[in-house]
Amino acid sequence: MSEKYLIGDKMSGGYGRGPNILHGCTIACDKGEIAVIVGPNGAGKSTAMKAVFGMLDVREGAVRLGGEDITGLSPQARVGKGMAFVPQTNNIFTSMTVEENLEMGAFLREDDMKDSMEQVYDLFPILKDKRRQAAGELSGGQRQQVAVGRALMTQPTVLMLDEPTAGVSPIVMDELFDRIIEVARTGISILMVEQNARQALEIADTGYVLVQGRNAHTGTGKDLLEDPEVRRTFLGGT
Ligand SMILES: Nc1ncnc2c1ncn2[C@@H]1O[C@H](COP(=O)(O)OP(=O)(O)OP(=O)(O)O)[C@@H](O)[C@H]1O
Ligand SMILES: [Mg+2]
Repeated sequence: MSEKYLIGDKMSGGYGRGPNILHGCTIACDKGEIAVIVGPNGAGKSTAMKAVFGMLDVREGAVRLGGEDITGLSPQARVGKGMAFVPQTNNIFTSMTVEENLEMGAFLREDDMKDSMEQVYDLFPILKDKRRQAAGELSGGQRQQVAVGRALMTQPTVLMLDEPTAGVSPIVMDELFDRIIEVARTGISILMVEQNARQALEIADTGYVLVQGRNAHTGTGKDLLEDPEVRRTFLGGT
């Protein structure tokens, strides 16, 4: 079986000179696939995302993209390789307009960004209506659309999202998940951390349950939703 397009393979590492937070953690995602990371608070989900994106010193293990070892690359260099990352917090420029936020996303590109912007506006029509408004004035769900839209402006092959539905209503969450599925259908790999574990696993091709920096359970979203142990410990029983 060949390796997935993006893989953080048996990653161990921590912050600065601190102890390891990740302990041999493996996360992978194929083209067009949605991979979801779930787990309790402090499990290391965001840390695993940062490790894959090059924001953490990976002391053991490796990150590979399309078979290439990118473990030593800076986050900027990874963006150049087609990776985009929406962090859990502070993921938009609140004092800039929606359109300026999208333009910032394209700063590494030298070609015309207008097509990408139209694609983002097709995906999230409300952003077109609000394009002249300061992003900080938008609702929580709309801000997350700006953050995802900004990441898409680099025309990535891999889109990494850390809790994209944090603080939004269930209806807005469902809508955002539908848009994320749409993005995956275009062939982009989606690697996403989610607090709404049950709903996220429903749309996941692959799910990873992390506990204390380790892989506790891995399987298809469906397998994990049906796994009695996963249900009991993470999905609130029954
Ligand atoms: N910048 C940092 N420097 C030092 N330790 C950190 C840093 N960020 C996180 N940690 C520690 O790493 C561990 C994992 O944190 P992380 O943010 O990855 O968890 P998480 O699974 O994303 O949690 P949450 O569900 O709350 O977002 C925690 O013990 C946390 O205190
Ligand atoms: Mg986190």
